[in-house]
Amino acid sequence: MKKLLFVMFAMVLLASGVQAQKKTTNKPNKPNVGVDGKNANAMPVINLQDIILPPAHVGMDVPLIEALRARQTIRDIMDEELPMEIISSLLWSAYGFNRYDEQKRVAPSAVNVQEFDIYLFTNQGIYLYDALKQMLRPVVEGDHRALISAQKHFAVAPVSVVIVANYDRMAKFKETADRDFYAAVDAGYVSQNIYLFCASAHLATVACGGINRDDLAKILNLKNGKALLAHPVGLPVRR
Ligand SMILES: Cc1cc2nc3c(=O)[nH]c(=O)nc-3n(C[C@H](O)[C@H](O)[C@H](O)COP(=O)(O)O)c2cc1C
Repeated sequence: MKKLLFVMFAMVLLASGVQAQKKTTNKPNKPNVGVDGKNANAMPVINLQDIILPPAHVGMDVPLIEALRARQTIRDIMDEELPMEIISSLLWSAYGFNRYDEQKRVAPSAVNVQEFDIYLFTNQGIYLYDALKQMLRPVVEGDHRALISAQKHFAVAPVSVVIVANYDRMAKFKETADRDFYAAVDAGYVSQNIYLFCASAHLATVACGGINRDDLAKILNLKNGKALLAHPVGLPVRR
């Protein structure tokens, strides 16, 4: 009898042990956290706010001929901040809407695909230019200006404009070669607009094709896009 009781007691113990083990293994997996406690797969935390830009091109009426005369590449850029009015006009000149009712822009694009996303890199973070609302939308916080390129002007200039082709908007072009050709041509217009704005506002800039496209694709989380050109912009160093 004693033997039987002992066997039954042992069986109960064993059963409760298995149950307890089952409970542990059934617990949901812990989230995939990195060493710093942040989810390694999550997008960067955004502490930046939307920026409503002041009206663009207020009080700027330099004749086009003078802007064309003054257009040039200037690589020696001061690290001084630029007023928001200037940043607003710079972005509008690059890729703003000049015909809001038709949703058409200052820069033309082949078959009007309007394939670009324009990013602004500052010492606070990376912003996406919202041309319809004339606003900046934060994308990544922190100073990532030097990531654009090893060329020295990027770490110094207060802002850099990065022109990114979003190929999702270019589905009309069936051949990759056509898509690349038209995106490159279209980027030239945006770049020239930036040059002309800078010439008229006495700012320094340089169109740069030598940029870190892979790093930019990573930080901007580009799925089907490519950074084509970048323009650091600031006051010129006076000699
Ligand atoms: C598509 C393109 C890419 C360029 N890439 C660079 C670059 O990566 N770095 C740079 O210092 N200048 C770059 N430039 C600027 C040219 O070197 C400059 O336009 C040229 O020397 C003529 O000078 P200008 O603009 O004063 O007329 C680029 C220009 C263009 C149009």
